[in-house]
Parts: sequence; C-alpha cells; structure tokens
Amino acid sequence: MALAPGKLPPGPPGWPIFGNIFDLGTMPHRTLTRLRDKYGQVIWLRLGSLNTMAILSTKAAAEFFKNHDLSFAERNITETMRAHDYHKSSVALAPYGSYWRVLRRLVTVDMLVNKRINETAYIRRKCIGNMLQWIEDEASKIQGESNRNGIHVARFVFLLTFNLLGNLMLSRDLLDPDSKEGSEFFVVMSRLMDLSGKGNIADFFPWLKWLDPQGLKRKTTKDLGKAIGIASKFVKQRREDKRLSDNNKRDFLDLLLEFEGNGKGEPAKFSDQDLNIFILELFMAGSETTSSTVEWAFTELLCNPESMIKVKAELSRVVGPNKKVEENDIQKLHYLNAVIKETFRLHPPLPFLVPRRALQDTEFMGYHIPQNTQVLVNAWAIGRDPEVWDDPLSFKPERFMGSKIDYKGQNYELIPFGAGRRMCAGILGDRVVHLVLGSLLHHFDWELGGNVTKDTIDMKDSLGVSMRKLEPLLAVPTKCLKSAD
Ligand code: HEM
Repeated sequence: MALAPGKLPPGPPGWPIFGNIFDLGTMPHRTLTRLRDKYGQVIWLRLGSLNTMAILSTKAAAEFFKNHDLSFAERNITETMRAHDYHKSSVALAPYGSYWRVLRRLVTVDMLVNKRINETAYIRRKCIGNMLQWIEDEASKIQGESNRNGIHVARFVFLLTFNLLGNLMLSRDLLDPDSKEGSEFFVVMSRLMDLSGKGNIADFFPWLKWLDPQGLKRKTTKDLGKAIGIASKFVKQRREDKRLSDNNKRDFLDLLLEFEGNGKGEPAKFSDQDLNIFILELFMAGSETTSSTVEWAFTELLCNPESMIKVKAELSRVVGPNKKVEENDIQKLHYLNAVIKETFRLHPPLPFLVPRRALQDTEFMGYHIPQNTQVLVNAWAIGRDPEVWDDPLSFKPERFMGSKIDYKGQNYELIPFGAGRRMCAGILGDRVVHLVLGSLLHHFDWELGGNVTKDTIDMKDSLGVSMRKLEPLLAVPTKCLKSAD
C-alpha cells in the first residue's frame, strides 16, 4: 500500500529542471560531506528527474542497513548499464530475487569460501611473484637515473589483480605476452571501466536517452560488445577442452558450466550471455577496487614515515627477512591490518558504494522516501564522521590496534564493502590487498618519486569507476629482500 506523501529530507534548493546537478561538482562525495553541516545527516537531491537521497552519517547508515535494508535492496540502473542488456545478467545489478541469490552464492560460497580460497593460494603466490619480478625489472631500468620519477605502483597492482582473476576464474595468464586475446581483453576492459565512471546526463533526463548526448552508451555498446566477444571465446574454448578431457583442475568457469538450478526459481542452466557478463563483472568488481586501495595505502605510508617504519618492522618480525609473505602470516600482521582499515576509512574505493534504489514508498527516519529514489550511502563522509572518529582527517592506523571495529558490515562507521544484503560478495578478496601490500613493502624499500615530497604531494582524488588518486602515485623501489627461491 502506498504511503501518504510526507516530508522529504532537507537539501539544497536546486535549479528548475536541472535540480542539484550543478551543485555536486566533480567530487560529489566531498560536496555532500560539506552539505552535511548545513542540512544534516540525510540529504535530498533532485538530479534532473532522478530523486536521490544521500546518507552521510554513521547513525543514519546504521538505521538504513539495520532497519530498512530490504526496502532499498534494488539497484539504480543507469543507461550505459543497459548496453547489450548487461543489467539483465549482472549480479551487482540484479533485482533482489532468485537469480541474484544464485549468482551471489556462487561467488561467496563456490569461488571465495575460505576452504576454496585456501586451495587457490598457490595461484596468488605465483601472480604476486610475477608482479615483484615486473617491478624489479622496471626498478633496474630507472636505477642510476639522476631524476628518478619512480614507477606507477597502481598499474602493476591492477595488472596483478587482473591476472589473478584470470587464473582463478579461467585458469589463464591473461597478461602472458603471447596471449593476443588476453591483452585485447585487458585494453577493452580498462576502457569500459573508464566509461562506466563517467557521469551521463541521460540518466538525469530520460528524454535524452535516445540522443545519448555524450555518446557514452554508443561507446559502451562498442567496447562491451568486444569484451563479450572475447569472454565468449574463452567459454567456447573451455566447452571444447572439456569434451576432450575432464581431468583438469576445476576452476570457477567449470563450476559455472556445470551449474544446474534446483528447479525452484533458479535458472536450469546459465545462458552464454549470463556467463560472459558474470565473468566480465567479476573482473571489473575486483581489479580497480584492489589496485586503488593499494595505491592509497602506499601514498599514506609514504606521507607518514613513522607508520611506514612500523609496518616494515612488523613484516620483518613476523615474516622474517629473506622470506616471502604468505597467506597464513596475514592474521599475525596486526599493524598491516590496521593500515589497511585506516586506508579504507579515508579512501573507500566506492565512496557511494553501489547505489541502491527504493523498492517502494518508505518511511525513513521520519521522512517519506518515494519509490525508485536512488540512495547514495556516502562511505567517504561516514569514514570522516566527527561524531564517531577522533581527529578524523589524520591517518592513524593506531586507532585500530586493539579495536574490534572491522569492515565486515557490522560496524557502520567503516563500510568500504557496504553492509546488509547487497554487501560486497568479494570481501574475502581483502586478503589480496593484505598480500599485495605486505609483499610490496617487505620486498622493497620505497621513496616518493616524481620530485614530490610528503609536504608537496597532491592528495586529491578523482571519482571514476573507483576513487583513484588524481595524480597517480609514483614511487621508487629499492630491493631489500633477497629472493627466497
Ligand atoms: C578492495 C576490494 C573491494 C571493495 C572495496 C569492494 C566494494 C564493494 C562495494 C562497496 C559493493 C556494494 C555494496 C553495497 O551496495 O552495500 C560491492 C559489491 C560487489 N562486489 Fe565488491 N569490492 C571489492 C572487491 C571485490 C571482489 C574481489 C569481487 C569478486 C571477485 C567483488 C564482487 C562484488 C559483487 C559481485 C558485488 C555485488 C553484490 C550484490 O549486489 O549483491 N568485489 N563491492
């Protein structure tokens, strides 16, 4: 039953027709955080014809996830997400129902459950070994140069995560220089991620959809078509290989191919389109988020030398000199874990999580929220909530030492992976962040490159598909660990 229209949350007045589109600027997570002082913890915005509610405090996030999660369990689908009917096969965008439940279970139980993730440790070891070698080769090229600019750390981590997902899902080294399809896939996926981070005016004015004024739908359709084409070749090849032999190690693609629904609302089998999109989506979900987190952690450590000294000392003590960081070291690396939490607090890769949508008219904290309202939960603002955090703008991993606050969806002051039913399905991927950051710090000593110092470094972020550092971090590695092989 529809509720009687009531009070909307407060918010800036906005322009006729355009509403608040121009108020938000290029860094809406920051703008909204500033607006909190004037309008409070829940803000109403009109983005053209798209009603939007922004949640800006820990208290409001707790109320949202604890008491209203189900009413907002759907996603807001943008125009570019409709290219090639992507949204119909996607897990992140699927309506809250049986298809979503099956796909989500496949990621959380069959791909990333602890037992299985432990079985795949060797893959991560191999891929991290490759990354350390790439960096070592790159470092030797710049050694001796008087003006050492350093290397673009995030790029190496992005390549690593991409390769890691390729090995985990498809048992393929996508970045093997001999794999033409692999490098094509990488290029086209990187382009797609760039495109999906761009704001599209057609989302605010549905009558502009047919015009596609920025050409974003057209470009996405082209690149997504290519990516689907490559993914479908991988799938086809696997079907053929399976016919020839079935004693290979089973990877995630095998699980998807073998899937049979339970007949109770689940699909009997996945269509090729579902498989292709699912694969693409996991690449997109895992690679940017992980590499931007590692880039910010590095940036903060290079700007806070005391923390850098502490984290390296812990690695030496726990892992031991001349040894590689292993997965079973992670739980003993308390300070490294605190560094990662502090990085997620200040730099959540998805500052608005993945936007939700109201399933029906809903009463929320005394306000009337109409059906289809888009909801932006501002994890960036919440990580700086002065009601909860002491000295919120400073990087202080110590605040997490001995603290029970974690990012697993129970503590609403720290929600880089979201919370509730639609929380990140790949949260166990956080071990990759620990492993990569720990390995890079243990294997090399690092200095800031590009002629910047901790006092002159540009800490601005830029919001695309994830919240990256606007000026990519350049850092100079010096090898400090003899190979353990
Ligand atoms: C640093 C790493 C990562 C971060 C910070 C992150 C963050 C997020 C966030 C904020 C959401 C939306 C949650 C919400 O709406 O409440 C999400 C959704 C999702 N993530 Fe992640 N993610 C990461 C890595 C991964 C990885 C490695 C995978 C899988 C390979 C993955 C798969 C997904 C999926 C499938 C969803 C959609 C869940 C749904 O709608 O039910 N993520 N992630």
